[in-house]
Amino acid sequence: AAPTTTPETGTGVFSRTRARISERTLRTDRWWVPPAITVLGLAAFVIYATIRSYVRTAYWVPDYHYLTPFYSPCLSTSCVEGSSHFGTPFGELPAILPLGFVVLPFLLGFRLTCYYYRKAYYRAVWFSPPACAVAEPHAKYTGETRLPLIIQNAHRYFFYVAIVVSVINTYDAIAAFHGKDGGFGFGLGNIVLWVNVILLWAYTLSCHSCRHIAGGRLKHFSAHPVRYWFWTQVSKLNTRHMLLAWTTLGTLVLTDFYVMLVASDTISDLRFIN
Ligand code: FES
Repeated sequence: AAPTTTPETGTGVFSRTRARISERTLRTDRWWVPPAITVLGLAAFVIYATIRSYVRTAYWVPDYHYLTPFYSPCLSTSCVEGSSHFGTPFGELPAILPLGFVVLPFLLGFRLTCYYYRKAYYRAVWFSPPACAVAEPHAKYTGETRLPLIIQNAHRYFFYVAIVVSVINTYDAIAAFHGKDGGFGFGLGNIVLWVNVILLWAYTLSCHSCRHIAGGRLKHFSAHPVRYWFWTQVSKLNTRHMLLAWTTLGTLVLTDFYVMLVASDTISDLRFIN
């Protein structure tokens, strides 16, 4: 059937400047599948991460010094003994604050302002627009030019904090080479922690802000060979940024889940050394 026309009285996508089509889209494929999968994936992570961040149990394995990334760094006297690698400058924390409260807001900010995640949730959650050639429901479009979305410009500052957090997670992974009888130890948990840390570094370094910091605003690459080399490496990683964004959500959950199972004595860690 021929599309019907809309009155020229609307605003935004239904304004006079849009093609006069009343249907939100003429697409007949299942364009809603990718946004629906995105919503499910993000919601699953947010629910899991929120619950785990608040339970305050099974986040530290004293025998092997495994610490889940959701509680790192653990900086308060509410943390179980041994889990505070960087001291306890904070006293007892009320239950309303997760023990990882120092970095969790920054990690959340880093992911929320990430260029890939913006694309994902602008489409899947805000329908702005939900897919190519599918009109968005909003009457007005102001982009990222005013509050709250102008905060997206702070992404590079969250990136700097994310680098510090990656260093902390790396320290945790090194500290986890600890055996039951003291000294060096190595088990399946170490592999889990290291896979997670390496992928977190890959995600962080593949950031668009990192790429710009490395090689942006240079007029002559030849005059800056080190920055140029770094920029080319980051550019290669950057092509996989979406993949790394999703993979690291998965490895964060798997790492936390593994530590939880071992810390709660639900399973024993597979030990190779000590
Ligand atoms: Fe995704 Fe920076 S663009 S983390």
